[in-house]
Amino acid sequence: MDEEFLLTADQFFAQGLPTGVTFDDVTLGTRYSEVLPQATVIETNLSESIALGIPIVSADMDTVTEADMAIGMALNGGLGLIHYNMPSEAQIKQVARVKYHVHGLIQEPITIEPDNTIGDILALIEEKDYQFHTFPVVNKQGGLVGLLPGRVVKPRYRNKPVPDAMLSREDVFTVKQKEIEKDPIGAADKFFDGHIGIHKLLVVDEEDRLRGLFTLSDIERINDEQHSQLKPARDDQFRLLCGAAISSIRSSNGDLDKDALVNHVGSLVDEGLDVAAVSTAHGFTKGVGNMVRIIREQFPDLTIIAGNVTTGEGIDFLVDAGADAIKVGQGPGSICTTRIVAGVGVPQMTALYLASQAAKKRNVRILADGGVTKSGDMVKALTLADGVVCGSLLAGCRETPGRVIEIDGKLYKQYRGMGSKAAMREGSAARYGHDRGVTAKTAAEGIEALKELSGSLQATLENLVGGIQSGLGYLGASDLAALKTQARYLLVSSAGQLESKPHDVIEVKTGDNNS
Ligand code: XMP
Repeated sequence: MDEEFLLTADQFFAQGLPTGVTFDDVTLGTRYSEVLPQATVIETNLSESIALGIPIVSADMDTVTEADMAIGMALNGGLGLIHYNMPSEAQIKQVARVKYHVHGLIQEPITIEPDNTIGDILALIEEKDYQFHTFPVVNKQGGLVGLLPGRVVKPRYRNKPVPDAMLSREDVFTVKQKEIEKDPIGAADKFFDGHIGIHKLLVVDEEDRLRGLFTLSDIERINDEQHSQLKPARDDQFRLLCGAAISSIRSSNGDLDKDALVNHVGSLVDEGLDVAAVSTAHGFTKGVGNMVRIIREQFPDLTIIAGNVTTGEGIDFLVDAGADAIKVGQGPGSICTTRIVAGVGVPQMTALYLASQAAKKRNVRILADGGVTKSGDMVKALTLADGVVCGSLLAGCRETPGRVIEIDGKLYKQYRGMGSKAAMREGSAARYGHDRGVTAKTAAEGIEALKELSGSLQATLENLVGGIQSGLGYLGASDLAALKTQARYLLVSSAGQLESKPHDVIEVKTGDNNS
């Protein structure tokens, strides 16, 4: 009898033809389980090279993801996509901030030359927006000549030549590259233990050329990570993973400006960008296909996310263009009005099913983008998708861009659709196909809103991850691959939907209710 009610994805979605369903329309059947939630593994891959510890990506929206958010996401095992509503240079700096955040060994530290003054260094810090003030000093051949400590990089010393202010070569602590090859972090940890008060250790080769830099704070944070529940998502040089949205840059005649596009992506890749996201409202278009194709040709190893689509055809199209992962969702987002304005879109669970069918055949990953309002929605989405993209769920975190606003004693953060007029005026118009900017006639496809200020990103993610793991436990799935095979679906009546939420009680807000 159970099998007649609790259906596999193929049975369930085919039986509902042609009705579209979304998260709350569906519930998942419980399965026999020997799996404890805490023991479940929720790692996922966005491509052959990009692995995440948690299947959560922060949306490339100008009220959600800039460097602080991307750093927080990667530190907790996810990924942040830095939005593109800013000048190209600013986006490059944002990516650089994430990639320079916490390293084990910084293999290419930023260096200065001895013929500079402290004033030159202050100007460099300002120009590049560096968050650090200590610089190794090297000669033209790359040979180490000293270390300029942060404590002397001050306006009062601006006219002093660097050699007068730096620690000279014999006073700088160094280690030979060869001696640390096996376990760089362990070696640095041991060094800092044995040298109280020293915060920097430089790595040199046999010719005394600079080959790297360790900082005590990085090593300490890495040690802390070993004990944290959510492990950071890092690249093979131990830097945090970072993604960025790429906008379509057009020349005056409206054609895609290929050179400008390639230059911009190239600059991001030079800073260490791991994932380029070609984010648009309608990904099944010639323009998006061309952009993905150009980026794929020029940067064969770069992971590309593209979107958004809601059909198998759309998936096929973007796979053919060269995408590794595809965002699925048109109009489910909390701030979206695409379905109202354009009358277009597919309810999200049905869209995910259609996309997942094509994705399976083409061996490409899909991301559920929009409309996720609770961890239970994530579990449902992950029965079909490889990850979820979140805007609203994360928009209230302190790490998002934008000011905290107080209204009647309550604290809020601004959250707006990238298709709202305000966001489009700041650059995102192209995402909605308005390549010639925003006019009075341009139809907005998003609204401006507020989100109540929530706790830290880490606490928010821990809650969501706990919910996902709980879902896996109920379905007897030890990982996300098993979740897909174990999932059984049931349509929920409107009374059933009400029953799913707290009801017939007055909820007491304790501050630790799960979202
Ligand atoms: P949530 O529900 O997480 O959705 O807040 C975030 C996703 O919504 C998409 N997005 C928009 N869709 N008009 C739309 O129709 C908009 O103005 C808009 N802004 C963002 C986007 O896919 C994002 O990840």
